[in-house]
Amino acid sequence: MPQYRICHSPRLTGEVRISTAKNAVLPILAAALLTQEEVIIHQTPALTDVRHMLDILRSCGAEVEAEETDARVRCLAAGDPEDHALLRTMRASVLILGPLAARKGECSLTMPGGCAIGQRPIDLHLKGLQKLGAKVEQEGGTVRVSGALKGANVYLDFPSVGATENLMMAATLAKGVTRIENAAKEPEIVDLCHFLTMMGARIAGAGTANIIIEGVERLHGAEYTPIPDRIEAGTLACAAALTEGGVLLERARTDHMRALLFKLSESGVICQEDERGLRLRGKARHPMEVRTLSYPGFPTDMQAPLMVVAAQTHGLSVFLETIFENRYMHVVELNRMGAQIRVEGQLALIQGGRALTGAHVSATDLRAAAALMLAGLVAQGETILSDPVGHLMRGYEGLEDKLRLLGAETEKLSEGAMNQE
Ligand code: EPZ
Repeated sequence: MPQYRICHSPRLTGEVRISTAKNAVLPILAAALLTQEEVIIHQTPALTDVRHMLDILRSCGAEVEAEETDARVRCLAAGDPEDHALLRTMRASVLILGPLAARKGECSLTMPGGCAIGQRPIDLHLKGLQKLGAKVEQEGGTVRVSGALKGANVYLDFPSVGATENLMMAATLAKGVTRIENAAKEPEIVDLCHFLTMMGARIAGAGTANIIIEGVERLHGAEYTPIPDRIEAGTLACAAALTEGGVLLERARTDHMRALLFKLSESGVICQEDERGLRLRGKARHPMEVRTLSYPGFPTDMQAPLMVVAAQTHGLSVFLETIFENRYMHVVELNRMGAQIRVEGQLALIQGGRALTGAHVSATDLRAAAALMLAGLVAQGETILSDPVGHLMRGYEGLEDKLRLLGAETEKLSEGAMNQE
């Protein structure tokens, strides 16, 4: 079981390069199933979720080569994935549904499970595929989608990122024109659209609430480098803001981070874009009000890391989580470290200015794990973060190494060290 040791950190200084975005790479890899030609994705991050997605593609019959940071995928004939355990463990496995339905006209998948932060239903994905003419049957944890896809107007009750991605991919090979209304506008949607367009898809409006896809006969291979990870960059920006640091986050796309940068600036941090990325200086001092929303609103994935920053400002901060129903599990652990945070439903009241003390804490989900690592940077003494499920390695490419590069005293303890307690 991975464990991390984090000590009270000096001001973080220096520069670190932001990895490619997990939430861009996962749908782009799924899109490789849409063609029988080779797809090459450069700079794929070394994440468990990426490895799992590559295994899922193999399980669908694709030839996959992962060399260094390039992933080469070629799916000559797509089949249903056999590795049901893998499908259940990784939520993003649902992203192969649209490509398989479009590529082979039918597919059966084990439904991905929920996770700690919420139920994570896929009703919007399935309703959208039905609008495109697919027959959808669900039985005993398996979903079966069959039938030729025809262009249609699809309205999403909620701008779901995954549903937008699945339907956009499915529509690329559907007969006729598809319009997705109330679509998600995240940068990862735009990146997927860029990639699909390079494969020969005909898409307009990605990044807006209305995406129009004109189906084509077939898609060809492509080579692509996805966007940098705005959530990794945001997490490191919070680390700088906590320690009154002066850092350069190389390759960070400030245009993807406006909501977070506004919050950090309002709180007293100096955020500057330059040609190499994002520079941050100074400390967050003023309390903040944060409401998580779909993009371009404040990202739910940044709620836990920013809460640690809010807990160190002077005054009462108020957070409202509107996207996931159970995304405050980091609060219990932060309070054990000395924070004073009260959760009332979807509201969290953070009484700032409390000194944190290092403790043994446990990760419950990916962004909670990151938040607890950040808390260890400002806590007196030593914090041991246990990560039984390996959340951090799922979604961050060596977060502890990147923090250490900036001067933090963070290390991943060997598995064995765990048992020497
Ligand atoms: C993507 O998840 C991201 N994951 C999440 O990042 C991110 O938090 C989320 O978008 C919101 O930005 C990937 O891109 C791999 P949604 P996704 O569909 O697509 C409800 C991380 O930490 N909903 O926009 O699953 C759902 O329950 C992860 O990197 C339905 O009700 O998010 C949730 O409350 C966590 N029915 C809300 O919508 C559906 O059919 C947002 O879900 C689909 C979603």
